[in-house]
Amino acid sequence: MSDGNNEKILVAGGAGYIGSHMVRVLIEAGLDPVVIDNLSTGYRDFVPGKVPFYEADLREPGVFSELIKTHHISGVIYFASHIEVGESVIDPLKYYDNNLISCINLIRAMKENSIDRVVFSSTAAVYGDPECVPVKEDAVLAPKNPYGRSKMMMEKMLSDAGTAYGLKCVILRYFNVAGAFPGGEIGEKHVPETHLIPNVLKSIKNDNCEFNIFGDDYSTPDGTCIRDYVHVVDLCGAHLKALRYLEGNISGIFNLGSGKGFSVREVLETVMKVTGQKIEANVLDRRDGDPERLVASIAKAKDVLGWEPEYGLEDMIRTAWKWENNLC
Ligand code: UFG
Repeated sequence: MSDGNNEKILVAGGAGYIGSHMVRVLIEAGLDPVVIDNLSTGYRDFVPGKVPFYEADLREPGVFSELIKTHHISGVIYFASHIEVGESVIDPLKYYDNNLISCINLIRAMKENSIDRVVFSSTAAVYGDPECVPVKEDAVLAPKNPYGRSKMMMEKMLSDAGTAYGLKCVILRYFNVAGAFPGGEIGEKHVPETHLIPNVLKSIKNDNCEFNIFGDDYSTPDGTCIRDYVHVVDLCGAHLKALRYLEGNISGIFNLGSGKGFSVREVLETVMKVTGQKIEANVLDRRDGDPERLVASIAKAKDVLGWEPEYGLEDMIRTAWKWENNLC
């Protein structure tokens, strides 16, 4: 750990999948993270013991302000949101209540305490079914579900706060995040798990090797949906670059993916190659709300932030498999 004189970064949602990787990447970069998380989907033991940790609900007014003052925070990285597309359709108020109120509290606290740097985690879900792929940042925003709409509204709130109060924000629109910390100590742990890669790996670990594909009648070469996968450690590296970029006092919006698309069947093939196991795939109906094809243009992140992913799909699966085998 540091001598306590390093830059202090508040990581909201730092006990979750991406947030906990971010905490480790910040420490490796010589910065001091302070974590706040309500543990609704995060895990206390994902955060190293020496990192200041606060269990609190960000909808409570004053929580952010107190932490910013106590720890002399200089910047914020914000992950604290509900993120399940399907759940957001069934219970939209849960999403608008948690995601929007927490974001309002963040903006208010930053304004009151003259903190003007925030890196905000957004999503490719703000694009809905994009008209062209690879998707550029200036594509039309047309989210197809309450989760995506809540993120789009949060983006707009941050942008308005920029205009009115001078807040500087880097919005990072994640495509499909996968993989785990290479040591295998932390990784993806959602309950219930809905994501493709952990679901396939669980089917192998549970010995039935049966897996459900949601639809193979899309207009893609093998009929299954195409997504752009990015390793969680690469993604966190982009947040570090975004913090540095904010020192130039400018806001920005960047897609984070690999720029390459893989179909569900191609992901299954890669899982079989990496694990050496055979998978029997059942084909079910399409899942509601799934866009056919989502692939990022990452040219802007490359040109402006100087960021490029280092890990490929096999690395994501290999590290996720290691983590899956560490899970009880
Ligand atoms: N899929 C299956 N079987 C499964 C799980 C997923 O066939 O058991 C398919 C889905 O139908 C989809 C693809 O695998 O075609 C990827 O699905 P994921 O659930 O892994 O990811 P999504 O693309 O639905 O969503 C993820 C994040 C969102 C984010 C989006 C942006 O969960 O928060 O990526 O690309 F908005």
